[in-house]
Amino acid sequence: MPTLVTVYEREEPATARFITHILCLAAAENGLAAWLRYAPLQGGEHYHASLPSHIVALNTSTTSPVYVAGQELQQGIQSIYGKQCNVHHSYWDAGSSVVVGTLDEYTKAYGSLSNTPDLIQDGYWLSTEGSTVQILGMNERGALYGAFAYLSMLAKGNLTKVAYASNPDAPVRWTNEWDNLDGSIERGFAGNSNWFANGVIVSNLTRTAEYARLLTSIGINAVVVNNVNANASLLTPQNIEGLGRIADVMRPYGVQVGISLFFSSPTSGVQGQANLTTFDPIDESVVTWWTNVTDQIYQQVPDMAGYLVKANSEGQPGPLTYNRTLAQGANLFAKALQPYGGIVMFRAFVYNPLNETDWYADRANAQIQFFKPLDGEFDENVIIQIKYGPIDFQVREPTSPLFANIPKSNTAIELQVTQEYLGQQCHLVYLPPLWKTILDFDLRVDNESSLVRNIVSGQRFNHSLGGYAGVVNVGTNDTWIGSHMAMSNLYAFGRLAWDPTQDPQNLLQEWIRLTFSADQSVINTMTQISMESWPAYENYSGNLGEQTLTDILYTHFGPNPQTQDNTIWGQWTRADHTTIGMDRTVSNGTGFSGNYPPEIAQMYENIATTPDNLLLWFHHVNYTRLLHSGQTVIQDFYDQHYAGAATAQTFATMWESLKGKIDDERYYDQLFRQVFQAGHSLVWRDAISNFYHNISGIPDDAKRVGNHPYRIEAENMQLDGYMPYAVIPFEAASNYTAIVTSTNTTTGTAQTMITCPSGTYDVAVNYFDQFGGASHFVVSLNNETIGQWTSNLKPWIGNSEGPRVLGHTPSIYIDGHSAMRITFSNVTVTKGDMLKIVGTPDGTEPAPLDYVSLLPLGIID
Ligand code: GCU
Repeated sequence: MPTLVTVYEREEPATARFITHILCLAAAENGLAAWLRYAPLQGGEHYHASLPSHIVALNTSTTSPVYVAGQELQQGIQSIYGKQCNVHHSYWDAGSSVVVGTLDEYTKAYGSLSNTPDLIQDGYWLSTEGSTVQILGMNERGALYGAFAYLSMLAKGNLTKVAYASNPDAPVRWTNEWDNLDGSIERGFAGNSNWFANGVIVSNLTRTAEYARLLTSIGINAVVVNNVNANASLLTPQNIEGLGRIADVMRPYGVQVGISLFFSSPTSGVQGQANLTTFDPIDESVVTWWTNVTDQIYQQVPDMAGYLVKANSEGQPGPLTYNRTLAQGANLFAKALQPYGGIVMFRAFVYNPLNETDWYADRANAQIQFFKPLDGEFDENVIIQIKYGPIDFQVREPTSPLFANIPKSNTAIELQVTQEYLGQQCHLVYLPPLWKTILDFDLRVDNESSLVRNIVSGQRFNHSLGGYAGVVNVGTNDTWIGSHMAMSNLYAFGRLAWDPTQDPQNLLQEWIRLTFSADQSVINTMTQISMESWPAYENYSGNLGEQTLTDILYTHFGPNPQTQDNTIWGQWTRADHTTIGMDRTVSNGTGFSGNYPPEIAQMYENIATTPDNLLLWFHHVNYTRLLHSGQTVIQDFYDQHYAGAATAQTFATMWESLKGKIDDERYYDQLFRQVFQAGHSLVWRDAISNFYHNISGIPDDAKRVGNHPYRIEAENMQLDGYMPYAVIPFEAASNYTAIVTSTNTTTGTAQTMITCPSGTYDVAVNYFDQFGGASHFVVSLNNETIGQWTSNLKPWIGNSEGPRVLGHTPSIYIDGHSAMRITFSNVTVTKGDMLKIVGTPDGTEPAPLDYVSLLPLGIID
């Protein structure tokens, strides 16, 4: 039985009718229903008279979005208020009703509205003012959007009278899913693909339909179902038939299917298709090949949204292979799609490996070099899909200047909902504040207002196409994306693609109400954690515009700053013993700042007007240079890394205040992640601080870096069966050293006598959880066990129920990705006690340990 766990009060506007008592389900919830859980409202029956009794959905076809809207309204009103409504599919005028349909169908059935709302494609009119609630879409999809907008009001207990038209800011509001045909997902952290397995499209597409329902409720209108690193065998007749099945289950929700293409498919020997000897985009046989394939796809998927193409990027083939231009490559597909109204999303993420010793080389310039000269050469149904920053989804980047440089081309912004470089759903990072720094950025093209959001909507340069692509990568996990709280990013992505002027915090709070609870303390706590999360992550990963400082050559998860430099990949920091940062000025560096329109170029060219948070993106400076804040670069590095990690410690504590206020299942699931984040943020803090301390030789004014009075280094303990191990990268271990068992079958013991004063301590153990084994650890004091755990991506958090697994990309090494912490709280310790850790290795994991901290309560070291 659901129990009443909280009541919220809010000030009611004079004309408003809000239900003030909200019943939250404390029963376990797995997250599948996300923000569409339609939790019952307490006392909902008292509002039956204010709610419609009949639903008129003006379409009889069960697969039409309007029909689905009728069902959704029926289920929602029943679930939230306990009121049963009948659904009719043609004119009905007895008793109060809600009518949902297209504007045209409504006019046919009920006559014209007194004031015809100004709607564009996908837009809707919602009026709750008269006795009939009107939900009228410009098209069927728009009507369904309107139904979800109305249901969202009802789910929040909002029965106010409204009458408004809502239109999308941009026509393209797509997700990209990097699903591979074998069922894996590139940069997905929530299990396997919902629609691919073993090279084909699965037969059970229930989850796919559920996903379409979630997406349509936030205004998303298409899903590109396969990885941008595409596989030609998507184009076998069997898979094309499968795409038809995916489209069939998504269509009732108004969500179209798009696909990513492998540029050299014509020569890939795709079973069931001709095999050519060339994929040259202007070769007649290639043109015919793609035309045929496109025709076959549209036979199965008559409303296919279009193609997404990653060409000549990171080893992918493309038109440049034949010395053709990227425009010729894009237009090849555009022409095949044109008769069907399909779109080509052509990715701007094109760059070549670079020579690191060339001071003037810069990956950030590549997109301008490739695309600017081609402006005006792309067909009308081509959209250039541009990542928000010039490099690659880093924790902070300047706005990609490409948005300002191709005014004759349609553009879309590519945002990453999956947190590839930002904690992989194991660190909470609410992304919309980051996205807003880009969307609201004014590029000042021709010295006129040129906000990125107005460029991608098509408004600034008068295009009818443009919009948003969000890389989401949902998997089979019940949470969809890998963590309950990370779903706020998907919710806000859809809502911002519809209306990018919305405030990230408002969107967040709306999401919390719908997904968790209307309890004000729940809203406040989740809001605070989420709004502090991106700044905290930036601070403990890479601040001052230094990129995320993660391991760009391996998992993209934990710290490894030195992987940025001495590579061909161009994510250079140029850090040496005295200086750091990329000089991207025109006067002395790579010239990147000159890619911006003059007002912006000038700001970044000049170190005095470059904001601190992008200083090292644009300038190469001494560690001792003073920032605008008055602090030196190096001291700011230390300070921010300590501040960020300190903030992350508070998230777990704040989350604990939610016990009993939300269901236990989601409570423990997220607590598990917050505890992990608290520990891993310290790994980040120490690794980055140690690295720059080591390279610069400049001490931390506050004497924190390299000075840990509460730590006992494992290598300094008395070892039996264990031996010291020099960790690579060095900065990933305290004192650069861990211990490992001498063989994979030897049990190791590390012990030491406690020398600190007797008292109550939190005992924290830092260890490494590698892929390839599940070592076991037992910690004891005078042979009395104080804790034990198995190291298998499952950090222990006390009384949690059931195994929980972190979804980040694992590491087979002892490094910054596998480093983690476990804490045993309130342990009574007596001076002279023998502290012992017994590690039993497993598989290839030699029970690696870094250090133990005996922390006086409240201290984090
Ligand atoms: C990043 C990411 C890759 C991805 C690429 C892309 O580099 O790590 O997995 O393929 O972006 O966006 O194409």
